[in-house]
Amino acid sequence: MSFANTLITWQRQHGRHHLPWQENRDAYRVWVSEIMLQQTQVSTVIPYYRRFMARFPDVGALACAPPDEVLALWSGLGYYARARNLQRAAQLAMARHGAFPAAFGQLLALPGIGRSTAAAISVFCNGERRAILDGNVRRVLCRHFGIDGWPGEKPVENRLWALAESLLPETGLDSYTQGLMDLGAGPCARRADCARCPLTATCHARQQGSTATLPTPRPRTRLPERTTGFLVLRSTHGTLLEKRPPSGIWGGLWSLPELPPGCDPARACADGYPLVAGSVHVLPGFRHTFTHFRLHGEVIVAELAAPLPPADPDLQRWARHDDLCHLGLPAPIRTLLESLPC
Ligand code: ADE
Repeated sequence: MSFANTLITWQRQHGRHHLPWQENRDAYRVWVSEIMLQQTQVSTVIPYYRRFMARFPDVGALACAPPDEVLALWSGLGYYARARNLQRAAQLAMARHGAFPAAFGQLLALPGIGRSTAAAISVFCNGERRAILDGNVRRVLCRHFGIDGWPGEKPVENRLWALAESLLPETGLDSYTQGLMDLGAGPCARRADCARCPLTATCHARQQGSTATLPTPRPRTRLPERTTGFLVLRSTHGTLLEKRPPSGIWGGLWSLPELPPGCDPARACADGYPLVAGSVHVLPGFRHTFTHFRLHGEVIVAELAAPLPPADPDLQRWARHDDLCHLGLPAPIRTLLESLPC
C-alpha cells in the first residue's frame, strides 16, 4: 500500500476524531485552531480554544472585539503576534468577503496565514487537494524518507514541499492530512514510538536507527542574554501595570514598569515615585526564553506611599490580584504576580 493509503487507513482507525475544532468544518473555527496549534500542543490549546469560541463564536465577533479582550484570552499561549494578526485577519476577511474564506488563495492573502496553514484550512473546509508542511510533518517526512539537513534551510524546505506534494492522494485528503498531524503528534513525535507507527516497513529512520538524529537539528548558536529590571509598585489600589507598545516583544500586553539593568533599585524607584521608606526589596528573578534571546528579569518590589492616579488610563492602570485573570499579561509576569502575597 502507498504511504498515503496506509496513513488514511490508520487515521480512520486510530487517529483523532473528536477534537473541538472537528465538530464542524466551519473555516473560522478551523482557522483559529490552526493558529493556536502553531508551536503549541493540542492539550494546552483545548481550554484556550473553548474559551475563545465561547467569547468570539464567529469572525464578525472577533473583528469588532476590543483588542484587549482578544489578548486576554490569548494570554499564556505566547507568541502574541498570532493574536494581533488573528484580529487583523478577521477584520480584513469581513471587509473583503463578509465572512471567513475557505479558499487557499484568499486565505494566503490574510496576515498570519502561511502556505501550510492555508493548505490545512482549504483541505478541511473547502475539499482542496493541497499539501501541508508544519513542524510535525517535516519530522515525519525527514525520518521516513531519510532527508538530512536542517529543515529550516531553504533547499531542505523546498525539497520537503516537493515531496509533500508528490505524496498527496487523489481522494481522502481529510483523513490523509489529519493522519500526518496525528502521526507527527503521536508515534512520530520528537521521541519516536515506532511500535505504534503504521509506516515502519518503509521508514528510513526506523531501518537505520536514526529516529533520534532526524530531523537534523538547527545549528547551535548561543542565544544572546538580556537583563531587565521589573518594578512591582504596590499601593492600596493594587500593582501598577503599563501597556506595552503595540508591536514587538509582548506587544499590546499589560506588563510591569521596567528599569534599566544594574541600576540601583532604591534610587531609581525613589526618583520616580513617593515610596514608603525602607520598602524596596529585590526578589529572586526569573528567566524566560524567547526565540531570539534569553531574558533575565530582576524583580524589585516597593510600596508606594500614595496611589498616584495613572498618567494615562489607556497606558497605565492599577490591578488587584482578582483583576489579573481578566488582563492580557505575558506568562512570566502573570506567574510572578500570582506568586506574590496579596
Ligand atoms: N496540529 C495542527 N493542526 C492540527 C489539527 N487540525 N489537529 C490536531 N493537531 C494539529
